[in-house]
Amino acid sequence: MDVVLGIQWGDEGKGRVVDLYAESYDVVARFGGGDNAGHTLRVADRTVALRIVPSGALQPNCTLFIGGGTVVSLEGLLGELAALRELGVADERVLVSDRAHVVLPYHVAVDGAAERARGSRAIGTTGRGIGPAYTDKTARLGLTVGDLRDPAVVRERIRSAYAIHAARLPADLRDALAPEAEIVARVLDAAERLQPHVVDGVEYLHGVLERGGRVLAEGAQGTLLDLGYGTYPYVTSSHTVAGGACTGLGIGPSAVRRVIGIAKAYCTRVGAGPFPSELPDERGALLRNRGGEFGTVTGRPRRCGWFDGVAARYARRLNGLDAIVLTKLDVLSGIPSPEIVTAYRIGAHDVPFSACADERLEVVTERCEGWAEELCAARAFTDLPPAARRYVRRLSEILGVPVEAVSVGPERTQVIRDLRPSGEDASTR
Ligand code: IMP
Repeated sequence: MDVVLGIQWGDEGKGRVVDLYAESYDVVARFGGGDNAGHTLRVADRTVALRIVPSGALQPNCTLFIGGGTVVSLEGLLGELAALRELGVADERVLVSDRAHVVLPYHVAVDGAAERARGSRAIGTTGRGIGPAYTDKTARLGLTVGDLRDPAVVRERIRSAYAIHAARLPADLRDALAPEAEIVARVLDAAERLQPHVVDGVEYLHGVLERGGRVLAEGAQGTLLDLGYGTYPYVTSSHTVAGGACTGLGIGPSAVRRVIGIAKAYCTRVGAGPFPSELPDERGALLRNRGGEFGTVTGRPRRCGWFDGVAARYARRLNGLDAIVLTKLDVLSGIPSPEIVTAYRIGAHDVPFSACADERLEVVTERCEGWAEELCAARAFTDLPPAARRYVRRLSEILGVPVEAVSVGPERTQVIRDLRPSGEDASTR
C-alpha cells in the first residue's frame, strides 16, 4: 500500500495527483475526513464536485473505497453516486466500509452552535458536522455504516444521541433541527439505497492486498490540520498524517511501501489559525487570483503565503515522506521574487504549532529569483526556465525529500515526471 497525502493545510491538489497515479492501482482508499474535503472531476465539458468519494473515478478499473476512518453523510454520498452515474461513471465501483461513521443532521447543528459559541475564536469549520460526528464516535454515541443494516439499532442510536444534542442546542438551532422521527426515516431510506455499496472494510481491503492488489491510500485535508499534530485547536477532527492511513483503513504499518507528500509551490489555508508565511497584502491577493484559491466546499477565499520550509520539514517528520509531488508551480510565473520560509524567529526551527496560535510569528525567508515565462506547456524538467528549476531544487533541498513530479496546470497532461534525484542533473541548475 502506498499513501498520498497533503503536507500543508489541505487543498494541495491531491485529487489531480491521485487521478494521475491511480492507473497503477486497483483501489484508491480514502482513510479519513468526510465531506469537508472536495475535489472536482472533469469529464469533457462537465464537472462534478466529489467530497467523500475518493479520487480516481476516471480510471475505469479502479475501485473507490471509503474507509472505516471516515465520517459519511449518507445523503451526500448518494448525491455523489447519482452525479457519477450521470457522467457515465459506474457507481458500483464505489464501496464503503461498515466501520465508517455516519454524519447526522444534529452533528451539523452542533458544529454551527460550537462555532457560534467560540465567537471571535471560531475555527472556521466547513460546517459539515465533521467534528461532532468524530466526537460522537469517541463518546461511543455514533452510528456506523454497518449499523445501518438493523433498523432497531438505527432507531436506538439516533434516539440517545438526538436527546443529548438537542438539549444542548440554542433554541433557534433546536427549532431548525429536523424531528427525530424524520431523521430516522431519512437514514433508513438512505441505508437501503446504500446497502449494495457497503462491505466489511477489513475483509475487503485485506482480501485485495492478499491477492496482490495495489492500494493507494488517499488522505484528506492536510498534515497541518491533523487533530494531534496540526495547529491545534485550529485543526480538523481526524488524523490526516500517514499513521491515519493505517488506523483509518485497518492496515498495519508494515504494509506501507511509500508515502508521497503533495505540496503546493506556495501555501494556502482556509479557516482560522496560525499561518506563519501568510501574505495578508497584495502579494497574497496575487497568489489567490493567479491560483484560483477559493474553497471547493465553502467557496471561501483562501489565505495565501509563501512556501513554508519549516512547516514542510515538520510534515516530513510526521509522515516519513519518501517523495514530494509539487503542484501549481505555474502560479508563481510573474511573481517578481518568490520567497521560501526557512526559519521562525522564535527559538528553534521546529516550533510546536500550538505555541504560536495567537500571535503572528516572525519568519526568516530566502528570496528566490523569479521567472516571467508561463509554464503551462512544460512537459519535461528542462522545459522549465532555469529559475523555476532552481526553485524546485531548492524546495527539495530544504525539505530533504526528492520531488518526483511537478504540476503546471489543471489538465491531466500538465505534469512533469522526468525529475531525477537532486544532484544528478547539476547541468540544469
Ligand atoms: P472541519 O474539518 O469542517 O471541522 O474544519 C476544521 C478546519 O479544517 C477548518 O479550518 C477548515 O477550513 C479546515 N478544512 C477542513 N477540510 C478541509 C479541506 O479539505 N481543505 C482545506 N481545509 C479544510
